[in-house]
Amino acid sequence: MPSAKLVLDSAFVSAPVPRRLFGSFVEHMGRCVYTGIYEPTHPTADEAGLRTDVMELVREIGPTVVRYPGGNFVSNYRWQDGIGPRSERPRRLDLAWHSIETNQFGLHEFVDWAGKVGTEPMMAVNLGTRGLQDACDLLEYTNHPGGTYWSDRRVENGAPEPFDIKLWCLGNEMDGPWQVGHKTPVEYGRLANETAKAMRLIDSDIELVACGSSNSAMPTFGAWESEVLAHCYDAVDYISLHAYYEERDADPLTFLASAVNMDRFIDDVIATADAARAKGRHSKRINLSFDEWNVWYTDRFRGDGPQPKDRPWVEHPRLIEDEYTVTDAVVVGTFLNSLLRHGDRVTVACQAQLVNVIGLLRSEEGGDAWKQTIAFPFEQMRRLATGQILNVVASGDLFDSPSYTDVPVVDASATYDAENGRAAVFVANRSLDETASLEIDLRGVGGTAVASATTLHAGDGQDRSTTNLERHDSVTPTAFDAYAVSDGTVTAQLPPLSWTVFEVEARRG
Ligand code: AHR
Repeated sequence: MPSAKLVLDSAFVSAPVPRRLFGSFVEHMGRCVYTGIYEPTHPTADEAGLRTDVMELVREIGPTVVRYPGGNFVSNYRWQDGIGPRSERPRRLDLAWHSIETNQFGLHEFVDWAGKVGTEPMMAVNLGTRGLQDACDLLEYTNHPGGTYWSDRRVENGAPEPFDIKLWCLGNEMDGPWQVGHKTPVEYGRLANETAKAMRLIDSDIELVACGSSNSAMPTFGAWESEVLAHCYDAVDYISLHAYYEERDADPLTFLASAVNMDRFIDDVIATADAARAKGRHSKRINLSFDEWNVWYTDRFRGDGPQPKDRPWVEHPRLIEDEYTVTDAVVVGTFLNSLLRHGDRVTVACQAQLVNVIGLLRSEEGGDAWKQTIAFPFEQMRRLATGQILNVVASGDLFDSPSYTDVPVVDASATYDAENGRAAVFVANRSLDETASLEIDLRGVGGTAVASATTLHAGDGQDRSTTNLERHDSVTPTAFDAYAVSDGTVTAQLPPLSWTVFEVEARRG
């Protein structure tokens, strides 16, 4: 039986838990917006056409920030199409997803929705087909109090108070040849710098994210970040990272070890950003915005069904509606662990996406809405990871997969909150078939008792591929009691392929 030991000590903390680490993403793609969060004809729709059943689930999951409106979509989007009377809004071709965009949902609807679910909006500007002036116009529209052309248009459109949006992405995946308006790093670095400088002249309080690489396998990864930051280091606050993982070649062990790749990706971007800091003699540090991450079965997207260019142009087609399994939930748990362990530098992160499109949630047109398996680790960590991130000292058995060596069987992260006297420990058992024995030494956080413990794994009659599609509550965390506490140490038996969360009463004297 594999085993692991964790030592928690409140003397060893890395940073406060960043509030924006538990973000998500709403893109005009597939059915994320239309029939996802917005469906005026749905029986639960409110007066604004927003699905209240979906809003209720979003409130439970509680994403702290939501990125909008793309993604690839933003790179050929005119934000002006989505304001003003709905009957006058144009229908457009969305080149990114080969769809018809009706613009019935736009900026005001998104800000209204964000307020109702209690999340912070994070906006992306179009640096593909548009540019600096358009970004400035949008910022004037959202954040300037009034008395100018664009701010007065906002007031006319029913919003007397500025939206006061703080967090802005300077384009999306501009390194990707698939991006409409793809740029070289020099072109993008200069454009990001000039756009950032101009936007700050409108509102000096905003925070700006420069596009990093679309994933760590991009041939330009590393070189892109260095060149871009050489141009815009002082003008921006964050560099972005995107990563999607999937099980390939019937190799679940490599899939279960994916967070090793995520850890390395983050470490490499930190190193690259810090090298740019040294080279440019800058004083501030650039933080990381991991503003797209998830499991995504891209091979299915590329391999199955008509490819985008062969499809007819339709409104909100069903795109990449992956049904998530028990295995995916455990892997997503390890991604959350990786992000939390790096929370001193990754201070914004957005799971992609919120509804239907590789979604935490699924919803059917005119029908139900439910949480996918991957929503649970997200919701638990968002709720319980408070206070400070602990530098957990972890030891234990390792395994090799075809692509990674020395992967911890038990993957963990933890937080300690002196104010509420609670610690939280998040653990994944990556073994497909073996129970893992775990010891958690809580003496350094004054741990006395387990306040709650849950586990998510394949229950009776289920296997690692079970989803919540047929029965929406099939896979959920359930009470976990295979543990004992003695002298400030928890000993536990973690089920095979499981995600387990302990909430601990902990008061360091
Ligand atoms: O989240 C889906 C897509 O993945 C986004 O539009 C794009 O930024 C990324 O490639």
